[in-house]
Amino acid sequence: MAKNSTPFEYAPAPESRSVVDIKASYGLFIDGDFVDGRGSSFKTVNPATEETLAEIAEASEADIDLAVRAARKAFRGWSRMPGKERAKYLFRIARIIQERGRELAVLESIDNGKPIKESRDVDVPIVAAHFFYYAGWADKLEYAGLGPNPQPLGVAGQIIPWNFPLLMLAWKIAPALACGNTVVLKPAETTPLTALLFAEICQQADLPPGVVNIVTGAGSTGQALVAHPDVDKVAFTGSTDVGKAIARAIAGTGKLATLELGGKAANIVFDDAALDQAVEGIVGGIFFNQGHVCCAGSRLLVQESVAEEVLHRLKRRMATLRVGDPLDKNTDIGAINSAEQLAKIRELSAIGEAEGAERWAPACDLPSSGFWFPPTVFTGVTQAHRIAREEVFGPVLSVLTFRTPSEAIEKANNTPYGLSAGVWTEKGSRILHMANELRAGVVWANTFNKFDPTSPFGGYKESGYGREGGRQGLAAYLKSTGLKGGDL
Ligand code: NAI
Ligand code: MG
Repeated sequence: MAKNSTPFEYAPAPESRSVVDIKASYGLFIDGDFVDGRGSSFKTVNPATEETLAEIAEASEADIDLAVRAARKAFRGWSRMPGKERAKYLFRIARIIQERGRELAVLESIDNGKPIKESRDVDVPIVAAHFFYYAGWADKLEYAGLGPNPQPLGVAGQIIPWNFPLLMLAWKIAPALACGNTVVLKPAETTPLTALLFAEICQQADLPPGVVNIVTGAGSTGQALVAHPDVDKVAFTGSTDVGKAIARAIAGTGKLATLELGGKAANIVFDDAALDQAVEGIVGGIFFNQGHVCCAGSRLLVQESVAEEVLHRLKRRMATLRVGDPLDKNTDIGAINSAEQLAKIRELSAIGEAEGAERWAPACDLPSSGFWFPPTVFTGVTQAHRIAREEVFGPVLSVLTFRTPSEAIEKANNTPYGLSAGVWTEKGSRILHMANELRAGVVWANTFNKFDPTSPFGGYKESGYGREGGRQGLAAYLKSTGLKGGDL
């Protein structure tokens, strides 16, 4: 539990684990049933305690083949079912997610390490909202502006990361099913448990067998899914390196892809901004979900005239962040998802210091077991520093300054990525100007890290291509109409 500078200590407020029932081992969800994998297995751990949670099947190429066949078989009936009937299943899934929301939130926090207040109040509600939203589209596809008779693509192979396990599942599965596709989804190897609980929810909703298949495993399982000749579309969220490998693997095959990759977002604070709100936005932008966020505001660009004041208030605020048990309702920053990710954060932070930036973190008592990293800020960062260029994917903020709006734009766009950006100013005209000039898929104004199923999300440049969410998210799962998501 973090030691902080507030005059009082918080009493422990742990959420009960008793609401979840974690089995000793899990198979694969194929054709409506849990089946034993034909490959080996691996363990998933609780990153806050290093306790092994369950043994998980590692899907082999043969298992992937079974899952894709099941999805292909189910595609016939699912794609021909009237949209209003498909919608009923999606509404049912959305309602069950709400009913089992506490169970899903606790399980997500145990397997991922994120604070319960985030899994409970952010992840799970947005997951349900996504299913409700796309359920609403299922019988209105011809009114989506995507042509008169929109047709599904077929079987989608979907690969998701560990930072928002259930949310990324929803972003992938809800639009795919609404459009009449069937799916084979692979969750990340460190966070498979909520996807497996979602498989149970599909059973509970009486979803026709084979419409959703969940295959667990690591990179080689993902590769087998991408390479399967009967997959029509690949949807991937994860690192830029793997995204590029996927683009190479499917080149020339006729498979379609949407890739949602990394980011190095600029969060830009002008001197006329409401500074206390901006500080909250900076904190939420980089410390939400331990900074394991592709659109995290990891580069703070602050106008020189207010830089000192903003940093002063930011450090004061950071000293009140509580780091510790993800299941405690007062925790702000939970556990780093894996030993590998912790090593990467430590390495890049050490490089930041070695390259001459100044590191600061509040005094923090970190638990002795598990994977932890304190909220950290680097000042004196230049654009050449690796911590200003590379995705740290942890609670680490790099601070740069600027004098003029054009300098802010130049610095903000000086990155191979282009996923998101934030602007803090009182001036509406400046917000519109910045939003035009910033090469980022999402630009937040006087807020940050806000997600809504109705608004499209996706990147420019090495942040990937394709859009998820909104009407645009439907285009990713329908046969080409000549319109791309970006045209809408
Ligand atoms: P990763 O890209 O390796 O993993 C993401 C998913 O892809 C996982 O399900 C993984 O099993 C799968 N995968 C791995 N190799 C594959 C392959 N060759 N073919 C198909 N699927 C494959 O990301 P990782 O290693 O977990 O994290 C490394 C870094 O990537 C992080 O430090 C972060 O910078 C970035 N990252 C970005 C994410 C984002 O949302 N933009 C999410 C996760 C990681
Ligand atoms: Mg885990």
